[in-house]
Amino acid sequence: MENNRPSWTSRLTFILAAVGSAVGLGNIWRFPYIMGQNGGAVFLLVYLLLILTICFIPLFAELAMGKITKKECIGAYESVNPKFKFLGFLNPITGILISSFYFIVGGWIINYIINSFSNQAVSNYGDYFSSFIQNPLLSCSYTILFLFVCIFFSARGVKKGIEFANNVLMPLFAVILVGLIIFSLNLPNAKLGLEYMFKPDFTKINAQMFLAALGQALFTLSIGMGALLTYGSYISDDKSITKSTYTIIFSDTLFALMAGIMIFPAIFSFGLEPSSGAGLVFVTLPHIFSQIPHGNIVSLAFFVLLLAAAVTSGISIIEVPIASIIERCKISRTKACVILFFIISVLAIPAALSFGLLSEFTIYKKTIFDFLDFATSSILMPINALFLCIITGWFLKIRGENFIQNKFMAYLFNIGLKYIVPLIMISLLYIGLK
Ligand code: TRP
Repeated sequence: MENNRPSWTSRLTFILAAVGSAVGLGNIWRFPYIMGQNGGAVFLLVYLLLILTICFIPLFAELAMGKITKKECIGAYESVNPKFKFLGFLNPITGILISSFYFIVGGWIINYIINSFSNQAVSNYGDYFSSFIQNPLLSCSYTILFLFVCIFFSARGVKKGIEFANNVLMPLFAVILVGLIIFSLNLPNAKLGLEYMFKPDFTKINAQMFLAALGQALFTLSIGMGALLTYGSYISDDKSITKSTYTIIFSDTLFALMAGIMIFPAIFSFGLEPSSGAGLVFVTLPHIFSQIPHGNIVSLAFFVLLLAAAVTSGISIIEVPIASIIERCKISRTKACVILFFIISVLAIPAALSFGLLSEFTIYKKTIFDFLDFATSSILMPINALFLCIITGWFLKIRGENFIQNKFMAYLFNIGLKYIVPLIMISLLYIGLK
């Protein structure tokens, strides 16, 4: 069995796939909206601090655990100690739950792509967006379509496609983002947006914000769900993962900051509300495109590239349950994909309907969509990342000196993995959920 596992053709393919997993809707859609709901610049500060000081530790540990055990999540935890098998199970379960709201947003992109073709005048983008997401047929069918696209690529084996998406499409996406940033910065009142993003108002600090920042940091780097573990398990022993860790963090943070600098000046210029929630980017962007000459072509290009970014991330999310189903049920990749397609559809449909038909149905005062987002990013992923650090630090005994040359840095890594990161995760979970 072991020899049949796929493996990356080169280190570059692996890095591209891992960056492709990290850069996605988390950067362009989720980051601005969570920052808008959590006070702007203070949130950004905490978020950057978490990414730069602690998040690279679980990121590295997750890749290393995959590379060392060469197993999918459940097998990887089980191989450390059979008692930990249930911790492994938490990963694909988290993945299925993330899929059931992530794929809805993927569906929104498809809708915006299709709309870029029509020159239909829209008088109020906010109303347009709400009536679209409230439409049960449209939102469900686009969700399923996006899911189908990701499952299709996964079933076919994805290396070529991922390589193309990340080699060609992501640099193009960065170019378009830079163009839009320049446009956005020249809008009237753009300065207010930059102030909102970079001038911290410390009165806005609260406990939930820290947990939200941790959740966003884990989400955007794809940590705490086994995606990196599964990708890491396809790395051969002779390839290093240290540089990859920095590349992932650098590119991901760059894309998130670019998205923020593109969106916030426009939000203030068009008099929109930064804290308006999940629709933020989807309401703001059409305003921008409506003011650009040939805006519908720019809009089309932007959403197609965003779709590519979302698909490469979507593929990495479903890879975790797919790898686990293949291994546990001993069935083919195609069969595993079909099974997963049905499981995710069953969960994603009620979540898609939670903007319309099921909007009254709430769990802990949240709609199904918001609950799934919160439960995964702010609870399950921090918990998974916490166990990951404990298992890799205390049981698998991953040590800094084996891959970091600087002795002091290696020492800091060890202390971070075994004590500091777990303690910070526990504290943030505690104060955020209290
Ligand atoms: N990081 C991706 C994004 O920013 C989403 C994602 C892909 C993800 N794989 C993941 C999130 C694994 C959590 C866990 O869009």
